[in-house]
Amino acid sequence: MGSQVQTECEPIKRSPLLNVLMEVFCMVLDLVKVLILGIPVLLITAVRILVPSKPKSIRGQTVLITGAGNGLGKAMAHEFANRGSNVVIVDVDLEAAERTCEEIKRDRTTKAYAFRVDVSSYDQVEAFVDGVHKTVGPVDILINNAGMVSFDFLQDADETNINRMLDVNVKGVIWMTKHFLKKMIERKRGHIVSISSLAGIHPLPWATVYSTSKHAVNGFMGALSEQLRLQGHGNEIRTSCVNPYYISTRKDITDFLKKPRFGILSTDYTAKAIVEGILQNETTITVPKFFGLGVKFSQLFPTRVQQIIRDYILREYELNSA
Ligand SMILES: NC(=O)c1ccc[n+]([C@@H]2O[C@H](COP(=O)([O-])OP(=O)(O)OC[C@H]3O[C@@H](n4cnc5c(N)ncnc54)[C@H](O)[C@@H]3O)[C@@H](O)[C@H]2O)c1
Repeated sequence: MGSQVQTECEPIKRSPLLNVLMEVFCMVLDLVKVLILGIPVLLITAVRILVPSKPKSIRGQTVLITGAGNGLGKAMAHEFANRGSNVVIVDVDLEAAERTCEEIKRDRTTKAYAFRVDVSSYDQVEAFVDGVHKTVGPVDILINNAGMVSFDFLQDADETNINRMLDVNVKGVIWMTKHFLKKMIERKRGHIVSISSLAGIHPLPWATVYSTSKHAVNGFMGALSEQLRLQGHGNEIRTSCVNPYYISTRKDITDFLKKPRFGILSTDYTAKAIVEGILQNETTITVPKFFGLGVKFSQLFPTRVQQIIRDYILREYELNSA
């Protein structure tokens, strides 16, 4: 056995100035790479806004929507069924889930299933995800829609409601995604959608905790999307985070919004816009589209300028005034 000779590498000695110059050179090189790779993507995205690509087909696929017993979830379930998908309706209110199922099956051959699940309960979600794969089969698109909407200033919000809202709006999204993600990774396909809100990118003074919960959803979806890309699943498992403006889903919401600066969205219009965004595999879907651009643009400015935009353009101070 020959003896092993260990040679210690002498670090190349460079002058501090040379080190700095090398660092700057590498950084400039990386910036050039970003421009070369990024500009074509920007151009393609701009063209796609004007000429959308062909939507992906979801005929015969299974779409699971939480909180689809009522409101936006129910409207999205109809929209998916119209496009030939089978739907799984999940709600804490089983009667409402069953009603949605009956409505969907009335004039269509679509399969629809109703389940009672409280998405904020880790144990219920875990048991449900195993069960649904046995009874219904794999889920192609998961839509985390179940959520609590409430308008309160922080000092008026009740502790129980705050806990419940964070449990449903944040943990509910995490538990459902965590359990379905495992199955989607095994199948090497899937699409995870979470319904956040414009209040998840634009802090809403009338609903401090709600806005907090929706910012968490945006953060979660952004991190998840990057996690999947980093792990090499980015082209197999898509993600979409949805940020809609106010929707006329419930009377208490429309009653509260006495003077919104812009018209409240209809539930059907919003559901259609969201489904179209999902079928285009859009990572962020804002309804209406230009509100997302408006929020991003205003965030380029100092806080005081953003406040002036809030006061003169959004007029949020009069949202609830008679
Ligand atoms: N309505 C709006 O103005 C508006 C605007 C932006 C975003 N959103 C978001 O859209 C989603 C749907 O809102 P909506 O207005 O249709 O509400 P909704 O109250 O009409 O419907 C919510 C449904 O979720 C169900 N649900 C509540 N807690 C649940 C739980 N723990 N487990 C399972 N199901 C549960 C309810 O039973 C109900 O059927 C929410 O995430 C909401 O934050 C709403």
